Amino acid sequence: MKINPDRFLRDLHKLREFGASGIGKGVIRPAYSEADIAARRWLAGRMADAGLQVHFDPVGNLFGLVEGPSILLGSHVDSQPEGGWLDGALGVIAGLEVARAAKEAGGPPVSVVSFQDEEGRFGVTTGSGVWSGQIDLHAADALTDDTGVTFREARGQMADLAGGVIDPDQFTGYIELHIEQGPSLDGSNDQIGVVSDIVGIRDMRITFSGRQNHAGTTPMHLRADAFQALSLFNARINDRFADVVTPHTVWTIGHVALSPNAASIVPGRAAFSMQWRDGDQDRLNRMEQIIRCTASEVAGLTGASVQFGALHGLEPQTMEPTLREALEAGAEAVSPGRWRILPSGALHDATNVARLMPVAMLFVPSIDGISHAFDEDTRESDLVAGLKVLAHAVTRM
Ligand code: GLV
Ligand code: MN
Ligand code: MN
Repeated sequence: MKINPDRFLRDLHKLREFGASGIGKGVIRPAYSEADIAARRWLAGRMADAGLQVHFDPVGNLFGLVEGPSILLGSHVDSQPEGGWLDGALGVIAGLEVARAAKEAGGPPVSVVSFQDEEGRFGVTTGSGVWSGQIDLHAADALTDDTGVTFREARGQMADLAGGVIDPDQFTGYIELHIEQGPSLDGSNDQIGVVSDIVGIRDMRITFSGRQNHAGTTPMHLRADAFQALSLFNARINDRFADVVTPHTVWTIGHVALSPNAASIVPGRAAFSMQWRDGDQDRLNRMEQIIRCTASEVAGLTGASVQFGALHGLEPQTMEPTLREALEAGAEAVSPGRWRILPSGALHDATNVARLMPVAMLFVPSIDGISHAFDEDTRESDLVAGLKVLAHAVTRM
């Protein structure tokens, strides 16, 4: 099989035009947005041009299929509300190029997928979650985004394209190429990372409800200020976690909604996202207990009440040894001495797909470790190296 790096880079840059932010190479292409659906229609056309059979499933996961058993390559093309051009896109377009080159060469059989809502507008990796049975469609349909739109309403935007569920038994394994999205490879000047395992994640919405009142007339000691509760919670949780976390554990309050969010009103409500990630399931569970205890304690101290939303999560996932060895051999062939094994601190569709078949992942460096930001980027030579390792591994299998 003869891959074509120029054709691969051309497609990757073309995909960037859908939802281009106009700032650097960034994109705004959240799941089911106009830009996302337009990108998927374009991608379906490229798959058809490559001789693949195009299929959208009930939630908008897009497959480019060959007949009979095949290896599945891919990732996702939806982005964060402010995203980079490579997160997900790289794995999909590299998968397309390998499938296209394999078709031209008369084998091996390679299929491609672009999963829907990997970035979690509605939950955590929703499209691959539904396909893998990690969450059932009925439960997924009730999920809402930050503005109250349901998953069911959103996937309705693609109803004209939707077909049935794809049988996973036709795939012998799944390989996902991705940017690292962290500083390790860039820092060590390695070109390829072969992933050992993907961390687990927990995500929960927490709401402090205080008493909305006048910011000029309400004495400090009579306030039940929901923002003060959030602020105290944040300070305490950083302290309390110190006893249980490792240097690899991370936690983030990334979305906050203050109500009514006005300068002269004591905030009545502070609703926020609390997310934490680690490679150890027990630690994730212990952190949940600490979060619940600390939030309840803070509510008591500030005169607020606290409500906990539904807990979403994925467990840590180890990569499959045979597929991983194929990637290691490919890495040594393409970038001798410039690759290493590392865990993934970011979440990926591979975690869900591992419920269905063997999975493995490889990374290329992210410049300065930046991702989920408009200035996310990777050197072209590294993008092409990742493509070559992927092709090498597929050939070897
Ligand atoms: C997915 O992009 C994640 O949040 O790790
Ligand atoms: Mn991604
Ligand atoms: Mn992402």
